[in-house]
Parts: sequence; C-alpha cells; structure tokens
Amino acid sequence: MIYQIYPRSWADHDGDGIGDLPGITSRLDHLVDLGVDALWLSPFYPSPQHDAGYDVADYRDVDPMFGTLDDFDRLVDRAHALGLRVIVDIVPNHTSSDHPWFRQALASGSGSPERARYVFRDGQGNEPPNNWTSRFGGPAWTRVPGPDGGPGQWYLHLFDVTQPDLDWTNAEVRHEFDTILRFWLDRGVDGFRVDVAHGLAKADGLPDLDPTIDPVRSPTALQPMWDQPEVHEIYRHWRRLVDTYNVPGEDADRILCAEAWVEPREALARYVRSDEMHQSFNFNFLLTPWRADLIRASITDSLKHAADVGAPQTWVLSNHDVVRHATRLGRADATRTVITSGIGTDDPQPDPVLGLRRARAATTVMLALPGSAYLYQGEELGLPDATKLPDAVRQDPTWLRSGHTDRGRDGCRVPVPWSSNGPSLGFGPGHPWLPQPDVYAQLAPDRQRGVPGSTLELYRRLLRIRRQRHLGTARLDWVDPVTFGAGEDVISFDLVGRDLRVVANLGATPVDLPAGSEILVASGDLESGRLQPDMAVWLHPVD
Ligand code: NOJ
Repeated sequence: MIYQIYPRSWADHDGDGIGDLPGITSRLDHLVDLGVDALWLSPFYPSPQHDAGYDVADYRDVDPMFGTLDDFDRLVDRAHALGLRVIVDIVPNHTSSDHPWFRQALASGSGSPERARYVFRDGQGNEPPNNWTSRFGGPAWTRVPGPDGGPGQWYLHLFDVTQPDLDWTNAEVRHEFDTILRFWLDRGVDGFRVDVAHGLAKADGLPDLDPTIDPVRSPTALQPMWDQPEVHEIYRHWRRLVDTYNVPGEDADRILCAEAWVEPREALARYVRSDEMHQSFNFNFLLTPWRADLIRASITDSLKHAADVGAPQTWVLSNHDVVRHATRLGRADATRTVITSGIGTDDPQPDPVLGLRRARAATTVMLALPGSAYLYQGEELGLPDATKLPDAVRQDPTWLRSGHTDRGRDGCRVPVPWSSNGPSLGFGPGHPWLPQPDVYAQLAPDRQRGVPGSTLELYRRLLRIRRQRHLGTARLDWVDPVTFGAGEDVISFDLVGRDLRVVANLGATPVDLPAGSEILVASGDLESGRLQPDMAVWLHPVD
C-alpha cells in the first residue's frame, strides 16, 4: 500500500502557503494510523515550478520552497522509524530549461557536446523538424536563436516549453542518471517512481507522427515518441543498479515503478519483466468507466498480463494528474467514458453525493485486489476535485498551452484539510496556494476520525483487513452473481484462502447478498440487508 504525497499540498510548516518537507514529517503519523506501507513523494527538487516540480533544475537537492536536504534526511529517518518506506519521483525524460545543462546547450552552438545531451535539430525551412505535438498542447518544438541572433535550431519538449527532452542515446545522460539514482539510494530511499518512463527513447530519425493518428487516444505503440523498444535496456540497467542496494532475503525492497501510459496491456507488462521494473501503474483500471462488465474485464486482463511476466499488478484510482475519483464517478457520463481533464465553473458539475458513494465502492473493490495499490493524498477523506476554481488561480501549464481549452490538473492538487477550521483548514499558517472548496472543512480528519461510516474509517478498516488477511498476495476467483440471485451489473469475487468475498452493485436496483455470510465492511449503509446501487461489501462466509 503506497500513499502518494504531493508535497505542495499536503502540509505547510513554514506558512508560505505551499506544503513542505517538515510539514510532511510532522504528519507522518496519519499514514501509520491509516495503515499504509510506503509513501511516494512527487518532486521536491529545485525547480522553477513551471510544471509543479516535474521540471527539475537540480536532481540532487531540495527546493528551498520545500526545505533542505537535512529536512529530507529527517523525513526519511522519521518515516523509517515509523515503519514506512519512502519512494521518490525521478524525472528522466526532460530537465527544466533552468538546468545548467540546458543553459550550457543554449550558450553552445549546434553540434556541440552540450547540445547533444538534448534533442536539438535543424528545422525544415521555417517549420519545426517534425509534426510532433506537446502533451500540454501546441508543437513539441521550440526554436532558439542562432549564433547571429537570427532563428536557429529547434529543441524537443514533449511537455512544456520549459521541459526540454534529454537524449538518452547520449552516454553522458545515462551516466548522470546512474549517479542521481545512487545519490538518493545512498540517502536511504526505498525506490523510485519513474516519470514518463515510456518516453525516454524516440524512434530513429524522429519520423513524423502519422497525421491520421490521434496523439492522445491512439495506442502508444503506434507513436514514434512513446514506448520504443530501447527504453527497456535503460530499465534493465537501472534494475541492476538498484539491486546492488538490495540484500536478498534481508532488505531487498527497493523498487522501481513505471509511470507509463502505454497500451496495449502486453506492452505495459514489458516494463515489469523480471529484470526490469518491479511495478508499473495500471492506468487502464483508472480509465475504466463505471460499468460492471468493463471493470471485470479490466481486472481480469490486468491480472493476466502481470502474471504472464510474474509481476504483481498495481491498482490506482486517483493521482495528481487526473480528476479525483470521488468527482470523476459523479459525472453524468461516468458509465460511458472517463474524462481526466479538469472541470471548471462553466462545465456541467458532477454530482458530489453520487461521486463519493461510487468512489467508496470503487475503493472497496480496489483494496481487495491482489497486488499493490496506490492511494492519492486526501482520497481517504473522500475529497472531491475543486471544480469551481477561478481560472485566474490556475497554475497547470496545460491551461495555458491548450489555449485555455483544457482546464488541466489544478482541481486535484488543492491543499488538503487537516482540521475543520483554522487558517487553510490546518494545512498551514499561511494562505494556501490554491483555494480550498468549502466542503473540505466537513471532510477534514477531525470530522471523520472515530466516526462510524466516515470515509476515513472505511479506508482504515479496509486497509487493516487487507493487511491481516494478506489480500495483496491472494488469488482472485470470480463468482457468478447469478449464484446468489444477482445480475450482470454485480461484480463479485473471492480471495481464495482468505475467507473473503467482495460484492459490488453497479446496477440501478438493490440486490440480496449471498446467504450465510457476515459483513466485514460495507462502503455505505445497507437497507434491509440489501446491497444498494453503487455500493460494495466485503463478506466473510460463515458456513
Ligand atoms: C507525469 C507527471 O505525473 C505529470 O504531473 C507531469 O506533468 C508529466 N509527467 C511531465 O513530467
């Protein structure tokens, strides 16, 4: 069980309105109380923050906004003392344009070794070298001045203009990242979440993207900038490096986890072959509409593809890049499609009650699944996205680069509440960097701890039973809902040998539960013992 902390928004110790490492250290007890095994920290490195820290200017330090290296060491020590592992985010696809390497590249001419660390190319006349587009909108190329001050070469940036892509065919780049990984392993980290793991290698000659391919919706396998076979050699090498820190049988838990938005599933499984990474995020599950048949299929396929390569599957419903599941699932079209881009005041507003009800059921299903699960800060409180943020406060580069057509990801990044009153609801003494929705006061932990039926208590109980019954290593067997009188809109499975059955009702009418079972935990109130729509239970068979 890994809990994602987005450092800007978890706890602000120094009162500048932005979360920081001392803030995180001061709140680690919350994670122990919740019952997770590890925390993953999104980037805290020195950065101009054009992409909230995923634009790294120095890979071996802490941005003063978040604290110091000493603060980091204290965080790791405290986490380890509490039995929590610490995973950090590594961003190898691109640096910040403020990184000394990029400044040197600009100051040096075409063909220089300084430029060779990045992807600089001559254009085609006045046009960029190819037709690739940035994930944040607009072209993936920006032109820099030539030696005479006139238009010069172009550099590639698959994300923001301030995030130049590194050239991973360059030995110096590879060596640099070896030393960065060692730097953090030597400081005691337990692993890395690898940002844009599928982007590091680009197809030879940087061919144009077929214009008939939609770069957002098409399988990455068809695109020359994603999931190229050469990425795997990089991770095999990293695995060998990380394994030098793992002592088999004693302390062998240091891991690599790929953030790879890769389709089809076989392609994703390649990242977790036995000599590559340990885990990769299973975004297919996150992107599945709220429909029993589709969720069943996603779980079945996910388990199969992970098993084919002998890796544990991972499960995730929310993170800092998508609309929180308590909001996503409250959309009118949640049974048909999953939209992850942000919601604004003038968009149709999701139903918060339905969203939370479904989110709790979705989590109740997810936390029973074999493998490893990732939670995103605040989901244990049932936090929704901020869907009415004034556009003027938005900071995600997506909003700007899409020409104000995609609201981006600020809505899921709002500082979390710790108490139902006080400045910034206990987030810190200052004014939070994004305003918190009013409803966050009611969802603060002081309103939920010890309150039967609260979302926080639901998560605590699910996590406790998951740990006690070792669900992460169980085998899943599907149960045909017809055997207990329910229909196709019901999902049901057993965790073999763990005395646990899961039933989730995604239909429109209440269903009877299988006879002879005790309810261990329910995502909502049952009426007359019947499982209501958009609810899930864990059952313990009694006969
Ligand atoms: C994935 C990260 O999760 C996202 O927040 C970031 O914008 C991109 N990678 C670029 O680094």
